[in-house]
Amino acid sequence: MASINENYQKLKAGYLFPEIRRRTEAFAQANPAADIIRMGIGDVVRGIPRVIVDAMKDAAEELADDGTFRGYPPEQGYDFLVEAIVAHEFGLRGVDVDPDEIFLSDGSKCDSANIQEIFGVDNTVALTDPVYPVYCDSNVMAGRTGEADSTGSYEGLVYVPCTAANGFLPPLPDRPVDLIYLCSPNNPTGAVMPRQALAEWVAYARRERAIIFFDAAYEGYITDPEIPHSIYEIEGAREVAIEMRSFSKNCGFTGVRCAFTVVPKDLKAYAATGESHAVHAIWSRRQSTKYNGVSYPVQRGAAASYTAGGRTAVRELIDFYLSNARLMKERLSAAGYTLYGGDNAPYLWIETPEGQDSWTFFDTLLTKAHVVGTPGAGFGAAGEGYLRLSAFQQRSAVVEAMDRIGRL
Ligand code: MLT
Repeated sequence: MASINENYQKLKAGYLFPEIRRRTEAFAQANPAADIIRMGIGDVVRGIPRVIVDAMKDAAEELADDGTFRGYPPEQGYDFLVEAIVAHEFGLRGVDVDPDEIFLSDGSKCDSANIQEIFGVDNTVALTDPVYPVYCDSNVMAGRTGEADSTGSYEGLVYVPCTAANGFLPPLPDRPVDLIYLCSPNNPTGAVMPRQALAEWVAYARRERAIIFFDAAYEGYITDPEIPHSIYEIEGAREVAIEMRSFSKNCGFTGVRCAFTVVPKDLKAYAATGESHAVHAIWSRRQSTKYNGVSYPVQRGAAASYTAGGRTAVRELIDFYLSNARLMKERLSAAGYTLYGGDNAPYLWIETPEGQDSWTFFDTLLTKAHVVGTPGAGFGAAGEGYLRLSAFQQRSAVVEAMDRIGRL
């Protein structure tokens, strides 16, 4: 008799975004004339820059010819891409990362879900609240938690509340933890971690021999020159942090799929005997067993984003979405909403009006304005009373959505 992994039974009803899609589709079917504007899931809407698409087309052509055909890619990524990543993402900022510390992948969602699996099930995990649900659910699936309570918080996880009162910056936990998920620019609040705040977490991790998973998938959206783009800008971080980056939100690759994770060779974790082990070797072992790498055309496309033309086009894409965010901030503030984020991130974190709970406000926006947001409660107990709006939309849709919300 096959038995299930009972940890899955602890998970809340469904993953947040499919649940939003389900509710939206039900409304659309009942109201076929409604012109629904989707600002829920953070999925890009603009075409991929021509220079990147051309590079992918050329690479696909190479695959048709026996002389230039390529089979399995190198496990961690082709040199042409890995070296461009090292030079542009880190070298230009004075950050030392070795090419073989880069592990290419098909997404930061997958990496941030998978990374926990190389660590012991008895580690204590700290999450911010609100949090990107993948960090939480992957640890529930792995058996690091008990049951969820009525607010959706799981027994055994250490939640670090990020509230308006603390500027949505995670305070250090009040007890020892072993694995820590940080996300800056933050999904969902749009907050960014200043150097000092990051330095405190790095110092904490060094003291506790803990490891930080630093999700920087939205790094391209940082506009404030004082904000670190990489956790490795903080001294000592190489010994305690793994960083995740993505091509999804800057190159328009949410469907194409390409990302990378940096695992420094200095990073150690410990066996029950106290013996230290290089995390790099363990992650390498895991990836080479379970993953076969990013396709050649996609890697060529990603590499083209670092050419002069690619960099300009990517900057334009990001600026377009950031201008959406600015416009949304202005219009929603003028309409009387209290909101956060949007300056260094493509997300706005909006207080629900008149104390509505976040799913009620989601329903109000859907049924009265035909605008889809993401209810804050879906990101954790401290997300209750908020709704996230994504700036990933066409300009005309953003303007129309703001008009409709303004009329509510
Ligand atoms: C989101 O809406 O939070 C994003 O789509 C998450 C993701 O990139 O997986």
